[in-house]
Amino acid sequence: MAELNGKNLVLGVTGGIAAYKAAELARLFVKDGAKVVAVLTESGARFVTPATFQALTGNPAWTDLWDARMPDNMAHIDLTRGADAIMVAPASADFLAKLAHGLADDLLSTLCLARDCPLIVAPAMNRQMWENPATQRNVKRLVEDGVIVLGPDSGEQACGETGMGRMLEAAGLFEEVVAFFQPKRLAGRRVLITAGPTFEALDPVRGLTNLSSGKMGFALARAAAEAGASVTLVAGPVAQPTPRGVSRIDVVSALEMHAAVMRQVADCDIFIGVAAVADYRPARPVADKIKKEDKPMEITIEPNPDILAEVAARPQPPFCVGFAAENRDLEKYAEGKRQKKKLPLVIGNLVQDGLGGDSNTVALLDDRGRHQLAPAPKLEVARAIIGHIAQMTGARGK
Ligand code: PMT
Repeated sequence: MAELNGKNLVLGVTGGIAAYKAAELARLFVKDGAKVVAVLTESGARFVTPATFQALTGNPAWTDLWDARMPDNMAHIDLTRGADAIMVAPASADFLAKLAHGLADDLLSTLCLARDCPLIVAPAMNRQMWENPATQRNVKRLVEDGVIVLGPDSGEQACGETGMGRMLEAAGLFEEVVAFFQPKRLAGRRVLITAGPTFEALDPVRGLTNLSSGKMGFALARAAAEAGASVTLVAGPVAQPTPRGVSRIDVVSALEMHAAVMRQVADCDIFIGVAAVADYRPARPVADKIKKEDKPMEITIEPNPDILAEVAARPQPPFCVGFAAENRDLEKYAEGKRQKKKLPLVIGNLVQDGLGGDSNTVALLDDRGRHQLAPAPKLEVARAIIGHIAQMTGARGK
């Protein structure tokens, strides 16, 4: 999606086996449009060579404070001039200690000290090194100094032990850096989102459901979290990964989704109903598998509660956003739903554009009329919707 287009990043690599993941991270940054300059410490260069980063970034990689390629001998300043961020991944225990104490005895630590841009670090070390009070003190100090600390993760380590200290995977770090550059338009807001289909059981193996993949709702959850909101996602049965930083509640049926939303709703400022909730459920689901018979079968279905309508009708409702998927007369039906449920904003999408796919074409309907968005990947559409909600709710932008 070229989300990092035009961004200048310095990628610092210190000594740790996770340095191999930094090569993949460099590739993801470059593929997404960023200009990347790699700076390796002496021990970092023992794990992965500068030539690897030079080949992946298309730029010289640096290790030495006294590198003669820099005509004015000011590598420690010149390399971060115009940088949008320095990202150190992996950041070893030793390097974190240096940063916390302002030491600058090699090129990377000097660049970090002389910088005029945000510093992001991804710690990676053995679990005992991570748990050591000295490391914990250093990390606390760095956070107080405004350094952004991503991870570490818990799991199996190269040394054979299991615990905290693994560096986050390259894809996760990439996602975090993209999120870091998004405007924080919903900072401090609490957002509740429903996503995916619901499944209404008929017997233990069959039921009524629909083709919603959850992609649109999950993209909105990610976009809201990137915008600084604290996000709770109530998800029907889908196979989507949870966006980083989002708190997820899994449900199956409309009744479960209804109960989960009602438990959370008092604590939210914005409610977005993206789920394709089944309007009906079998009146009498049976415990045993229904046996096939050679005659037509009748199933009685009864209506499910309308979650969005109930939230919007609360005495002090959150800012409510509905979705409407139609296969024709989109504006007429979507605006009808907006009026009926008394919603400030409805997002209309054609079923044939939005259901199941990776992109969507939506129209935003509010009191001021219709705002059509161009067809785009769901994450891009989600960011535009979040921008519109931020504007409508008067959220402070940064
Ligand atoms: O999941 P994807 O594959 O990415 O597809 C996304 C989507 C097409 C499902 C999504 O963009 C979308 O349009 N969702 C709403 C589908 C719809 O038309 O719902 P509806 O007309 O039944 O309901 C209108 C609104 O009321 C929706 O916000 C819905 O979440 C809400 N609703 C509906 C019924 C119900 N019982 N409770 C509800 O909260």
